[in-house]
This record gives sequence, structure tokens and C-alpha cells, in this order.
Amino acid sequence: EEKQCLASFAKMAELVPTLPLETRCPPLPLRQHGGFWLPEATLRRGVPAVHAVFAPRPTDVLLASYPKSGTTWLKALAFATAHRAVHPPSAHDHPLRRRNPHDCVPFLEIGFAFADDDADAVAAKLEELPAPRVLATHLPFSFLPERLRVVYICRDPKDALVSFWLFIRKSSESLGVDMESFPLQEALELFCEGRCFGGPQWRHVVEYWEASRRRRGTGGAGEQQVLFLRYEEMLRDAVGSLKTMAEFMGCAFSREEEERGVVEAIVELCSMEKLKEVEANRNGRTGLGVRGDAFFRKGVAGDWSSHMTPEMGKMVDQVVEDELRVRGSAF
Ligand code: A3P
Repeated sequence: EEKQCLASFAKMAELVPTLPLETRCPPLPLRQHGGFWLPEATLRRGVPAVHAVFAPRPTDVLLASYPKSGTTWLKALAFATAHRAVHPPSAHDHPLRRRNPHDCVPFLEIGFAFADDDADAVAAKLEELPAPRVLATHLPFSFLPERLRVVYICRDPKDALVSFWLFIRKSSESLGVDMESFPLQEALELFCEGRCFGGPQWRHVVEYWEASRRRRGTGGAGEQQVLFLRYEEMLRDAVGSLKTMAEFMGCAFSREEEERGVVEAIVELCSMEKLKEVEANRNGRTGLGVRGDAFFRKGVAGDWSSHMTPEMGKMVDQVVEDELRVRGSAF
């Protein structure tokens, strides 16, 4: 099934109008392909370009996530870690003190899907990024090119769902979304049917989880490997998680750096409190036109219960549990 999916990427332009359509989950119309619901433009323009135009490099690091699972935080941490020689975390003019993390680490497929430029111009911009390139994606694992080093972040689906709904509500004006027709109950039902951006969420996670198990410990340079991180674990032990991630990215912290407190300094620079103070994250908009402040809310585990009833929470847990049992996988 995975192979079939790859072969179909080249002819997506003709295929997309024939695929099942879902328009009830804002902000974008979704189409179903390869078992996932993805924005129409991502399928039509993004995915083919990622395969035909994007040229991966062995030093690239791809940050992957289901939406609202901690992507912004991961982007900040990975960017600050990869470029700490040029931009020490203590620098007053550090890019993360001036720009939104989404403007420091671009989304691979979203650039190709939504830029006014053609695919070659988008690819040329990616070529200019300083090595090691840090890029991000919401694509499922089965949609990615081979031989990429991937850091995946997974989050409690209930929190990802509530965070998504609140994000859409906060940015509804800039996204042109009418919230009257998108109550939380509707978002919940669509989520449980998997009919949402990147959904089904559990399938997104399971693909990366299985890939992380398959390739663990066998990879040499250039071989695809997935590091599977959990948002909740990162909240508990940000320093430990960051050390693991740096090692996986090929830029482990030296003992001397650890003694100087570089790891803690990066964690601090990328903390919710610090990022919330940045002007671009308060009053700015990202390059894609989304309110910068919409990406920073509470940043805790379990906040779903402030917005959903226990019954709504159970509905999510039950569907995820059932689907995982059918697949015979757990993460
Ligand atoms: P909440 O809405 O639960 O607060 P994404 O970055 O994938 O869009 O996910 C957004 C979620 O990550 C939001 O969760 C947001 O508050 C949280 N987040 C953003 N920056 C963070 C940071 N520096 N540390 C921890 N969580 C962060």
C-alpha cells in the first residue's frame, strides 16, 4: 500500500479532483489519499514537489508532527541547537528573539503548496538555508521521500484536538473561518472519524512509531531514521529530551557545553514564557499570514479537560484504543 501511494504522487494533479472531499474541518478543504486526510493544495502541489523538486541532503533534519502536537516548540529547540555555533542561545540578537519559530524553520510541503512562487523558486529558497538544514512537515511518514533523518513529536490526541480547535478560533479572522459552524463538538466528531488535517491522528502517530522501531540502531549516515519524542515527556524533562535530540541530529552537546549550561540556555530561550515575550510572537504574523500569538497558548499536558467533558475525552480515547487494537500496534 505504501508503494502504491508513492507511485501516485507524480500524478496528483489529475488524481486530486477524484479523491473523497471533506469541507467541514476548517481552515482548508481536505482530500483523502493513502489513508489520510490532507489539504487539497498539499496533495496537489506540495507532495509532488517534495518528491520531484526537493533535494534532500544527508545532514538535513526533518521535524515531523501531527498538527498542534508541539511543532513550534520543536522547531525552536532544533533550530537553536543546530545553529548554536553561529547563534549562541545567549545572543541578544538570536533569530528566535526576533522571529517566529515558523519563520526560522519552514514547512517543507506547505511552502510548495501555498507559495505564490513556482516549485523551483521554493526549492531554491530551501537550497539557501544554512547547513544543517532544519525543515518541518505535517505529512504522514508514508508520504516522505526516503533517507531523511526525522524527529517526530507525539502528543495526547485530546490535547492536540483541543489545541487545534482553540487555534482555529483564535486565528479564525485571518483564516476566514466562521466559528458558528465549527463548535468543539463538531471538531470532536470529525477528529474521531479521522476526517481532519493529517487525520486519522492515531494512524499518523503509528506510522512514525513503527518507523522509529524498525530503524532503531541500524542507521548509518544518510539512512532514514526516526526519533520518536513525546510532548509530555519533553515537558517533564526538557534538558534530557534536548540532549537526546541533539545526539540524534548529529550535533551532540559536548561535555564542555553541558558544563557551561548551553543545554539549559537553549531550553530557556525556547520556553513558552520567553517566546511569548518576543514582539513577532505577540503582534506579528508568520510568513504564511497566521497571527504569531496563535501558536503560544498554555503549553501544558491535560488542558483538554478545561474544554471537553469527561465523556468527550472518553470518546477520543476509545476510538484511538479501538483503532490501535485493530492495527495491532501500540505506542
Ligand atoms: P496548547 O494549545 O495546548 O497550549 P503546534 O506548535 O504543533 O502548533 O502546537 C501548539 C501547542 O504547543 C500549543 O498547545 C502551544 O501552546 C504549545 N507550545 C507552543 N510553544 C511552546 C513552548 N515553547 N513550550 C511548550 N509548549 C509550547
